[in-house]
Amino acid sequence: MRIALIALLFAVQAAFAAPETDYQAAIWHPLHFKPAIETATNEQCLACHQEILEKSVKSESPAGVKASEALAWYQTLSVYDGEQETFHRRHLVTPMAKELMNLKCNTCHEGHSSREEAPIPPTSTDAGFTLRKTVNPETTCLKCHGQMDYQQMGLPSPWAQSQPMFQSCMTCHVAIRTTRHQVNYLNAEAIEKAGQANSDSCYGCHGGRAWYRISYPYPRHAWPGMAATIPEWAKNRPTESAARFQLPKAAE
Ligand code: HEC
Ligand code: HEC
Ligand code: HEC
Ligand code: HEC
Ligand code: HEC
Repeated sequence: MRIALIALLFAVQAAFAAPETDYQAAIWHPLHFKPAIETATNEQCLACHQEILEKSVKSESPAGVKASEALAWYQTLSVYDGEQETFHRRHLVTPMAKELMNLKCNTCHEGHSSREEAPIPPTSTDAGFTLRKTVNPETTCLKCHGQMDYQQMGLPSPWAQSQPMFQSCMTCHVAIRTTRHQVNYLNAEAIEKAGQANSDSCYGCHGGRAWYRISYPYPRHAWPGMAATIPEWAKNRPTESAARFQLPKAAE
């Protein structure tokens, strides 16, 4: 009787306990690689990587500089809010991130090789490696952290100078390129609302936090009322967002 009970206990434990995963097995967990990463949910990744959403910014540097007083220039824009935060929290859980965006782990992480992380020997030509964390800055970060291409928009000067003249992005963008933000990692409606209230929130993703000197060549979606002729600069532009970001097509 006693033995049967113990056997039963073991059986129950085996059925319900998380499978034993050692460090090596975890590093090589199939979720890290294509194709599994393409359909991974945040919950699946966070089961092991909870630490990336933990608050871990120091309130003061070892030299005594207070985080609250060490603001970068973009943190002075009217849409920047709240205390200093970590990179992941800024993109996933802070109030602005949740309002305007819907980023997932696999929006940025497209799978990496734990074995081949950099070309050996090093080369100055593009060897197709995106290094350890395999986030491709040209197809992810640049979209929200590139320069505002004010010349192409016909503005006489950068936004900081021409804003007084035009007031708001909406002065033109109520009618121009109005088919926008229809992708699975943005909240299109909330973005329009925020932009109506304050152009800084448009500018935030289109030049206001530019980590790069170049601008992103956005796809150019057809919009109601657009001219039939395509300008020279736009001839090579895609007319749809990258496939992995498209929203499911509405049923006919
Ligand atoms: C079973 C646990 C587990 C799961 C599930 C998991 N990871 Fe990991 N991951 C690890 C471990 C362990 C490491 C190695 C950490 C280290 O060496 O510091 C790692 C490393 C990483 C790294 C760093 C790679 C490097 O070389 O520096 C990234 C990025 C990463 N994981 C992202 C993800 C994403 C995104 C998902 C979901 C698609 C995911 N992980 C799912 C356990 C897991
Ligand atoms: C906005 C793009 C983006 C999103 C969204 C994102 N990551 Fe990352 N992640 C990065 C970048 C870039 C790095 C590299 C940081 C570095 O080199 O220090 C990174 C690094 C990591 C690392 C390596 C450890 C570290 O902190 O550097 C892990 C693990 C990781 N991410 C897991 C995740 C998980 C899990 C999610 C979803 C809950 C996620 N990431 C969402 C861009 C992103
Ligand atoms: C979909 C748009 C989007 C993408 C893609 C994106 N970011 Fe951001 N990023 C933002 C927004 C919005 C903020 C500001 C959030 C705030 O102020 O609360 C931000 C803030 C930042 C910050 C400032 C963090 C701080 O607290 O000061 C850094 C650094 C950053 N992003 C780097 C990156 C990198 C690197 C990538 C690519 C791996 C990336 N971002 C991809 C929208 C994006
Ligand atoms: C004076 C009118 C005007 C103002 C003001 C203006 N834009 Fe534009 N914008 C344009 C025109 C014109 C285009 C190009 C339309 C086309 O594709 O033919 C454009 C294109 C864009 C594009 C796509 C660029 C590309 O390379 O495909 C983005 C993004 C954009 N504007 C954002 C903004 C933001 C954000 C603001 C405010 C900070 C703003 N615009 C203010 C007229 C304007
Ligand atoms: C959270 C970041 C974010 C904010 C805020 C934001 N954008 Fe964008 N915008 C993007 C991204 C990312 C794309 C590219 C999406 C894609 O690949 O289709 C884009 C694309 C565009 C385009 C190109 C449209 C096309 O033809 O596909 C225009 C124009 C534009 N944005 C204008 C604006 C205006 C105006 C606002 C304010 C109402 C604004 N954006 C606010 C991130 C943002």
